Amino acid sequence: MPRIKLPTPPRPSALQPKPPRPGEEDKKAGPLDVAAEGGIRAVDWIDERTSLSSATRWLLFRKVPKGTNWFYTLGSASLIAFVSQATTGVFLAMYYDPSANHAYESVRYITNEAFLGAFVRGMHKWGSSVMVVLVFLHMARTFVFGAYKYPRELNWIIGVVLLILTMAMSFTGYLLPFDQRSYWATIVGVNINGSGPIIGPFLSDFLRGGPDFGATTLSRFYAIHMLLIPGLLAALIGAHLYLVAKLGTTAPPWMKAEADPELTKATA
Ligand code: HEM
Repeated sequence: MPRIKLPTPPRPSALQPKPPRPGEEDKKAGPLDVAAEGGIRAVDWIDERTSLSSATRWLLFRKVPKGTNWFYTLGSASLIAFVSQATTGVFLAMYYDPSANHAYESVRYITNEAFLGAFVRGMHKWGSSVMVVLVFLHMARTFVFGAYKYPRELNWIIGVVLLILTMAMSFTGYLLPFDQRSYWATIVGVNINGSGPIIGPFLSDFLRGGPDFGATTLSRFYAIHMLLIPGLLAALIGAHLYLVAKLGTTAPPWMKAEADPELTKATA
């Protein structure tokens, strides 16, 4: 079947150049015009060297199917939750000390003494639950709307990995305050991993960083929590969004496809 190339969607009217009004052609440029011209020149300068504007238009100005509704915002909401976690995490990392002797004290300092520390820690702590809930709701939306079917199977598989990584993020983050609750809860979690078939014992050994739970476990959890998993999440979210932009989103299952007049003509 020949591939039909769809025309690039037109720019929205706000971005199209405005024609001059009658009599305005030879108007002297005011400071605002000069400022606007400066911005356009800067964007043009970058675009001439990168051709990024066509990619940006391809990504942002897409057709969405009829019937698109609020449930379609759950993916973007998960993305915002991830960005919020990454941002607040950077500020927490400026004060947190992942050593068995100082972790608890550094978290106490963040909560009670650092400027806006309690606020940033609270955003990160509650934000983690918000992200888990949003990702589950988003997965339920894509499942109920049948968005896992051809040609979006790969995006569903990437989504499953994103879900596992999000859960792993919560699990590794829970240990970091290193208080009684996080210490014993993580021992339970690691032991549950150890009871899994075949790879279970290796997994729990890897998580502990040896046979015993201690200082190595904490630094290992910290490295996994703030370097390994966020890196993987960012890369996979990029792939996930590329596929969303490439394949478009699915119409709700109750929408009926309209007959294409071109196709009807060809088969008549
Ligand atoms: C960090 C987690 C995730 C982020 C940031 C994310 C982000 C997004 C965004 C922004 C969209 C497009 C808008 C929408 O349909 O809501 C989308 C679509 C999609 N997502 Fe996710 N997602 C995540 C996790 C998941 C999970 C766990 C699954 C399933 C296991 C999944 C499966 C899909 C599928 C199949 C689509 C295509 C929807 C369609 O064609 O209508 N995603 N995702």
